[in-house]
Amino acid sequence: MRINEAQLKSIIDELTLDKEQLKEVASAMRFDMELALQGRESSMPMLCSYIGMPTGQEKGEFLALDFGGTNLRAELVSLKGDCQYEIVKMVAKPLVTEEYNLINGSASAEKVFDFIADMFAELLEGAENKTYYLGHTFSFPSQQTDIYNARLLVWTKEFAIPGVEGEVVNDLLQAAFDRKGLSNIKVVAVINDTVAELLTAGYQYPDTQIGCIYATGSNNCYMERTADVGRPAAIINMESGSFNKLAPSQWDNKLDEASEKPGRQRLEKMVSGRYMGELLSLTVQHLLNLQEKPEFTAIDMSGIMADTTAVASDAAKVISAKVGALEPGEAAYIRDLTEAIAIRSARIVAACFAGILWHVSGSGKIADQHIAIDGSVYEHMPHIKENVQKALYEILDEEAGAVTPMLLKDGSGLGAAIAAAVASKNI
Ligand code: GLC
Repeated sequence: MRINEAQLKSIIDELTLDKEQLKEVASAMRFDMELALQGRESSMPMLCSYIGMPTGQEKGEFLALDFGGTNLRAELVSLKGDCQYEIVKMVAKPLVTEEYNLINGSASAEKVFDFIADMFAELLEGAENKTYYLGHTFSFPSQQTDIYNARLLVWTKEFAIPGVEGEVVNDLLQAAFDRKGLSNIKVVAVINDTVAELLTAGYQYPDTQIGCIYATGSNNCYMERTADVGRPAAIINMESGSFNKLAPSQWDNKLDEASEKPGRQRLEKMVSGRYMGELLSLTVQHLLNLQEKPEFTAIDMSGIMADTTAVASDAAKVISAKVGALEPGEAAYIRDLTEAIAIRSARIVAACFAGILWHVSGSGKIADQHIAIDGSVYEHMPHIKENVQKALYEILDEEAGAVTPMLLKDGSGLGAAIAAAVASKNI
């Protein structure tokens, strides 16, 4: 066997956060949140979204755009009041296929937004004379001045479309609709996907105060009930993926150096689906002393961990598809490493929740509540849900009993429709 056990142990140790370290991360998270809220230097921008929790009485048909994950989605959503809704129709297209790439330097703002406008033409076919208000779930850090105006601060998740950073994204979108003769679509609102998730949760679980995306990217928002200079009481998009008070391993540093934006999104690069596979690739290359770096994805990681047998023969199939034939015993060790990466991710996500809960509850007790989480990692990756829960107990002790993390799917479309309903009331 090529794997040296001592070397494996030392990599896994480097990727392990104990209870005390977790508590420190949670405290540092709260500290950085509060620095940013006071307008002081912080690793997180804590962006005001200019929207609060919904009433459930929002009504009407709205268009929703979901831009920021693996797929673009155009939706027609009907809000019926009394927290009832229906996704009437949806068109979804991947951002990257073998034929085209809409997220790298070869794309352009015009090309991407024209592509989106074409998706809405397909969605509405024949109904182009009716006026529709559209809510835009744009899942990147954006500085807002109101519910419509949001300028993209910086691309994350390895997106690199030229001509969008610094721009008002809704202006780019509206211009594309106008170019395509779809001026009947009025873009009225923009929100982050975490905010969309929290708005959606507010419909069904009104005690929810935190919205989380645990997918390609990783981020949280929460309802900030205290207004401050220049900011109303509103949902705050934390951009917690940019938190930088975690101790990175040498593998995290390697990954960061080779990324689109070195030095940025340090938490996200340790936690999210876009990056975890890369951490596995780097560590396996080292362990097996491979000339070339293999290309594991988060989906491969799930495949490896789904096999819980001692011989790990299914896990071996997933691994050998990337690295060639394995020697006996190697697959089970690589599975241990995969688990260490996944479990660290879940524990960091739980520490973020604890930091937010401490901030929201101040000197009081943590209120009974749900935490709304959406995303492929939380939904599908083995070991994640139970380790989020376990870490919450380690950090919060019995107070964790007040908190129920839950998977709530497809918030982006409904959240965007709710935001459009709120914004179009004032038109
Ligand atoms: C990245 C984005 C953030 C988004 C998250 C989840 O962290 O910067 O805005 O919420 O991914 O999609």
